[in-house]
Amino acid sequence: MGRITAAITAVGAYLPDFRLTNKILETMVDTTDEWITTRTGIKERRILKDKDKGTSYLAIKAAENLISKSNLDPAEIDLVIVGTATPDLPVASTAAYVATKIGAVNAFSFDMQAACSNFLYGMSTAARYIESGKYKKVLLIGADKMSSILDYTDRTTCIIFGDGAGAVLFEPNFEGLGLQDEYLRSDGSGREFLRIEAGGSLMPSSEETVKNKLHYVYQDGKSVFKFAVSNMADVAAKIMERNNLTHDDVDWLIPHQANKRIIDATAKRMELEDSKVMMNIERYGNTTSATLPLLLSDYESKLKKGDNLVFAAFGGGFTWGSIYLKWAYNSNNESK
Ligand code: UT7
Repeated sequence: MGRITAAITAVGAYLPDFRLTNKILETMVDTTDEWITTRTGIKERRILKDKDKGTSYLAIKAAENLISKSNLDPAEIDLVIVGTATPDLPVASTAAYVATKIGAVNAFSFDMQAACSNFLYGMSTAARYIESGKYKKVLLIGADKMSSILDYTDRTTCIIFGDGAGAVLFEPNFEGLGLQDEYLRSDGSGREFLRIEAGGSLMPSSEETVKNKLHYVYQDGKSVFKFAVSNMADVAAKIMERNNLTHDDVDWLIPHQANKRIIDATAKRMELEDSKVMMNIERYGNTTSATLPLLLSDYESKLKKGDNLVFAAFGGGFTWGSIYLKWAYNSNNESK
């Protein structure tokens, strides 16, 4: 038997129905459709309106979509990883709840938190379990209910984010397809620029923290933009260089959807034409952990076995990186 590589063999997604358009936001904060479109590329985002539903609801729906599309028996899943910046509860893993609800009765499960790099880091983690030879089916879900941590009177953040979830299944591959290489980075000096100040061990929740709105996402957009735009392009270029990939060899760039200008800069650095760049930011905004699997779901029918995919992400922490993966199946709605 040859070397085991970790391949994506199925994809699923879920988006809540409610569309929060730029026009609606114009009635909520001092902004314009024109400003949001030109500065970010976003036209609308989906919002989970139900007050009694958390991130697990989105994650379960995405997993169920994958399971039904691929005829997967959930009892065969070995591990469920949920990447999320908005777990259902501060303590008690969202992944454990999701695994139980989808019938993954033989799986163990855990959450990962690396902000907008959750899914990218999760791909690396899932691949290690598969490559070990001990685990055969790893379900990786990226899910976030960003609307639960946004201040809808703060125009600098509420226009950016949306809710959603995506899921992929990793399985062993013996044809050399799947994850080829990764370059993952972090820099903790960046945490002052993008964070939720209160509710953690450093500043536990109190009447004061609630009054001062310290449980919402704060972002120094300009500073984050500067780091993101150079670092995302750098890591994508590095992955190409060390795998001897030219722009002709790369079939798809799958970039985190934070800002169209950051995506365009990364594609430009890679010398990729627009038709090779996956993009859905105009419809969903920044869904944090869900951007990459939502792209895979939207573009699944266009992907071909053997395609060279370069993933790139940048997020709070700071965390960022790039992954090179060879796609393992032709879609036609069959998932293997
Ligand atoms: O996914 C995690 C990583 N996150 C990112 O990668 C996000 C990176 N940052 C960004 O995408 C951009 O910085 C933003 C989209 C957040 C902001 O765009 P910007 O071009 O950097 O705008 P800015 O923050 O420099 O603000 C420019 C102006 C300011 O007004 P003044 O000071 O020039 O008078 C803001 O007050 O735009 C104003 N502004 C707005 N105007 C209308 C900020 N937000 C809005 C708004 N509508 N929603």
